[in-house]
Amino acid sequence: MSTAKITARLLRAGLLCLVASSVMAVEKISIQLDFTPDLEAGKTTFEVCARCHLPEAWGNVDGTYPQLAGQHVNVLIKQLLDIRNGTRHSSLMFPFVQQRTIGGYQELSNVVGYISTLPMNPNPSRGPWKKGTSEYQQGKKIYQKYCSSCHGDNGEGSNELAYPRLQGQHFQYMRRQLESVKSGLRVVHPGMQAVIENLELEQLEQAANYASYFDVSE
Ligand code: HEC
Ligand code: HEC
Repeated sequence: MSTAKITARLLRAGLLCLVASSVMAVEKISIQLDFTPDLEAGKTTFEVCARCHLPEAWGNVDGTYPQLAGQHVNVLIKQLLDIRNGTRHSSLMFPFVQQRTIGGYQELSNVVGYISTLPMNPNPSRGPWKKGTSEYQQGKKIYQKYCSSCHGDNGEGSNELAYPRLQGQHFQYMRRQLESVKSGLRVVHPGMQAVIENLELEQLEQAANYASYFDVSE
């Protein structure tokens, strides 16, 4: 990993201010960059992040802070840049991902490189419906029909396509994210957006419940 190169799809936002109508538009340019992460430097940067995400990067059970350990590099980079440029709203995270606090792309690649090498939380908080219940079964059906094409049969996601790994993620965090996509607060990949619009909140909860029981070793 220390010699591996990070290839991240970066979205650089340019703000176009249309003064007449006071409309702000975000222009996205997709660029491909290669970085060799400095994992030691990334570890030092992570000390600040650990105040919320905890030193193991396992987040917390009530889902306020997501678990990050072992997440794909391209997912981490994309989410950090989305939060930095305001595409993804998080008032808690926002100050910590600015250029003046964390640095440029090299520093971002150091910290995400470090996070991606950490072992995942083996025991994240699971949803309320255990294996064998009808809600668990329902969630399995929904997940396999609508979610596994991107997030994988075992929630492994894809680094290449920047699809998040859901294995090891806290149920409450996933539930909250799905709720905010459903209510329009968080905008995600159009393919996921379409699926979410067609499902009820209860079905999304059941899918997240199923995903929360994935084994992190698979
Ligand atoms: C003050 C607390 C706090 C600090 C410090 C903090 N974070 Fe976060 N972070 C959060 C919260 C809260 C969220 C979830 C935002 C949401 O609900 O959408 C988050 C989300 C994230 C995500 C998105 C995860 C995902 O699965 O989509 C990444 C990546 C992340 N943080 C990395 C970092 C890094 C790297 C640092 C240090 C440079 C850091 N965070 C510092 C609170 C914090
Ligand atoms: C077309 C591919 C696709 C489909 C289908 C899809 N997702 Fe996603 N999902 C994504 C991507 C990409 C993201 C990262 C957010 C973004 O777009 O930046 C994401 C984010 C998430 C997150 C937040 C993860 C985090 O760490 O913040 C959860 C939870 C999630 N998806 C669950 C689901 C569930 C449950 C379904 C099925 C009902 C589903 N997704 C369907 C691609 C998909």
